[in-house]
Amino acid sequence: TRVAMLFGGKSVEHEVSVISGIQAVMSMDTDKYEVIPVYMTKRNEMYIGEEIGKIESYKNIDELLKKSQRVIMTNEDGKVFLTPFPVKLFGGKKPVEIDVAFPVVHGTNVEDGAFQGYLKTMGIPFVGCDVTASAIGMDKYIMKAVLKECDVPVLDAQLYTLSDYAQIETLLDKVEKGLGYPVIVKPVNLGSSVGISVAKNRVELTHSVDDAFKYATKVLVEHAITNLREINCSVLGDENDAIASECEEPLHTKDILSYEDKYVSNAKGSGSKGMASVSRKIPAELSPEKREEVRELAVRSFKALGCNGVSRIDFMIDEDNGKLYFNEINTIPGSLAFYLWEPVGVPYKELLDRMIQLSLK
Ligand code: DAL
Ligand code: MG
Repeated sequence: TRVAMLFGGKSVEHEVSVISGIQAVMSMDTDKYEVIPVYMTKRNEMYIGEEIGKIESYKNIDELLKKSQRVIMTNEDGKVFLTPFPVKLFGGKKPVEIDVAFPVVHGTNVEDGAFQGYLKTMGIPFVGCDVTASAIGMDKYIMKAVLKECDVPVLDAQLYTLSDYAQIETLLDKVEKGLGYPVIVKPVNLGSSVGISVAKNRVELTHSVDDAFKYATKVLVEHAITNLREINCSVLGDENDAIASECEEPLHTKDILSYEDKYVSNAKGSGSKGMASVSRKIPAELSPEKREEVRELAVRSFKALGCNGVSRIDFMIDEDNGKLYFNEINTIPGSLAFYLWEPVGVPYKELLDRMIQLSLK
């Protein structure tokens, strides 16, 4: 089976995706799969070639691209190819046939269903969530609506559009009446923590709302938990059959993996240890009951959203009353959350294999 593993792309999480992508490429079972690393530039142009797998040693990406081959994905008679581009200037270079595309990309444009829609339209089989699940997973408001229907606990929230923003005093009144302080204000589509802030009074709320609307046309205002712990859990499978990983407690609130994470982690070796020591506690310190509650809720959320492959679901625990809330989902999590699977006996190689097999079902 020939797998095109795509990373990079038009997203603020481009660099993180390169890390995730290269880790995944290095961890594939090469007895079973032929791997073709595909780098997507910040304009989503695709490149293949021997040097692409060494992308992390390049400071100057233009230099790398000069040594590589630009391709497009084509579909002829139901067969998928990486075809040298521009097609006119073939110059003896042959298209490479692939069986499946494996997007290891993060953030808006690439993780939110847009790229999945392109693959689907082209008739290219691909690993991970389909268009709908990817899109819902990136829209915090729609996601909450779906989850509420399935009895997954989410925090109360209000959605505001540009027309509400035009009458900001009314907006502020509604937040104060409906939610009360403190609140957290965020642009509705996830993928980066830009534009997110906490407000404890009307002045702060005005600033937060102004800031959030700089980045999005829809803004979510959510009740904020003052005394919280974050707990993440990964799920593998599809909407019919899915299992939960170990739980982690991230020890920083950043939305993206740091470069430190990258250098201390070693996907081929004892990866989980390295990552754990820097920024996360694995397993998270939870009572056996709480751990099971998190894992059960993670699986329920994954199925409710119609996910496929591996996702990471981020929860919050209100320390004042012990209540658990779904916070967000990453349908293509950083490092594909491999470090949460190793502790439950699923090596990274096998995780990747299972993800591919799920997409070929
Ligand atoms: N969106 C990043 C990569 C994550 O939280 O996993
Ligand atoms: Mg995220």
